[in-house]
Amino acid sequence: MGENSERITLTKGVYWVGAIDWNLRDFHGYVTPRGTTYNAYLIVDEKVALVDTVNAEFAGEMMERIRQIIDPAKIDYVVANHVEMDHSGSLPAVMEAIPGAKIYGTRQCKNGLSQYYHAHGFDRWDFEIVETGSELNLGTKTLMFIEAAMLHWPDSMHTYIKEDKILLSNDAFGQHVATSNRFNDEVDDVMEDAAEYYANILMPFGKVILKYVGTVGELGIGIDMIAPCHGIIWRKDPGQIIEAYGRWASGENIPKVLVIYDTMWGSTHMMARSIVEGVTSTGVDVKLINIRKNDLSKIIKEILDAPVVLVGSPTLNNGMFPSVGEFLTYLKGLHPAGKKAAVFGSYGWGGGAVKAVEKELEAAGFELIEPGFQVRYRPDKEGLEKCRMMGERVAAVVKAM
Ligand SMILES: Cc1cc2nc3c(=O)[nH]c(=O)nc-3n(C[C@H](O)[C@H](O)[C@H](O)COP(=O)(O)O)c2cc1C
Ligand SMILES: [Fe+2]
Ligand SMILES: [Fe+2]
Repeated sequence: MGENSERITLTKGVYWVGAIDWNLRDFHGYVTPRGTTYNAYLIVDEKVALVDTVNAEFAGEMMERIRQIIDPAKIDYVVANHVEMDHSGSLPAVMEAIPGAKIYGTRQCKNGLSQYYHAHGFDRWDFEIVETGSELNLGTKTLMFIEAAMLHWPDSMHTYIKEDKILLSNDAFGQHVATSNRFNDEVDDVMEDAAEYYANILMPFGKVILKYVGTVGELGIGIDMIAPCHGIIWRKDPGQIIEAYGRWASGENIPKVLVIYDTMWGSTHMMARSIVEGVTSTGVDVKLINIRKNDLSKIIKEILDAPVVLVGSPTLNNGMFPSVGEFLTYLKGLHPAGKKAAVFGSYGWGGGAVKAVEKELEAAGFELIEPGFQVRYRPDKEGLEKCRMMGERVAAVVKAM
């Protein structure tokens, strides 16, 4: 960072002091081909507050950005919206620089931070527990805290700057993308990145999100800007991302079918192709997705608005193919709401994959709309015709929705 680099200002006295991680390609398994950012915010008033920090390796970059605005020794308060280390990782460095600063967070945040940072002097940190509605006066600006438990960790909280109507929403409403711009009116396709982020990080918490949206409504607060901890800041029309979360959380689908599969010798692939032909013949949109040729995070993004998913697996050693197992394990954790499924695959002798996949899909919350279909070794003309008909039937289900 050069001396002349510009301060990034959300509004008077509110600055972005985060870090851009251009080189990150894997965020705990979530593929991030365009990196990410860790957004921390500095609020300079009669008192000075730092809201969240950055991943530990970027502590120096964050401190340098703060130094361009004020002497870090002037920070009075540090708000910890979330325990996860991408946002708390630089807390030890911050607290070493300003040991007298007071930390604000939820009760669960205090528990979590004590467990992560016991070897970094947590016991010496002055921590104040806050809850929804607690306020911290900075002079002309007031911070109000909004608990967001399980959105996405038990400790999660949001910080609202009352006078500026800015919601510092931590992991909610973020996207994993590194850009040189910080605001949504400066970049394209933000909503696509936000959808992928939602699908991979927040999908299991749909009910919590609907409740959270209700709480924000009850608090009766206006929101002029939403500043998350990853990616760009929603400055233009911030309501659009709250509205999108509401839609995703309530399981809104578009008419399409996904055929997701893997194959060893191509037979399950042949079946998948015929199913795709069957769906296509009805005019319903369909996508063919080979699990080993697509990142799981991209596949999950496709599932977010797909009402029907067909899963295909060959049998390997009496069970499903390992890549299909990995996909289903991930899917089970994300537990998408209100989805339907059917299963197909090729086997050689005893079989086993189709039953195993069906069991996992049911555990992931999917409703099976017809019995699984399997063929022995290579599908013949009749087998392929049956696959085609399976495609036509599931397309009819989509059309009827
Ligand atoms: C290493 C290996 C293990 C297999 N284990 C089983 C099995 O336990 N039970 C079975 O019914 N078929 C088994 N098969 C046979 C495959 O399921 C069969 O070849 C199937 O047609 C493969 O479909 P694919 O072409 O889509 O990969 C096995 C095949 C391989 C290569
Ligand atoms: Fe997180
Ligand atoms: Fe995060």
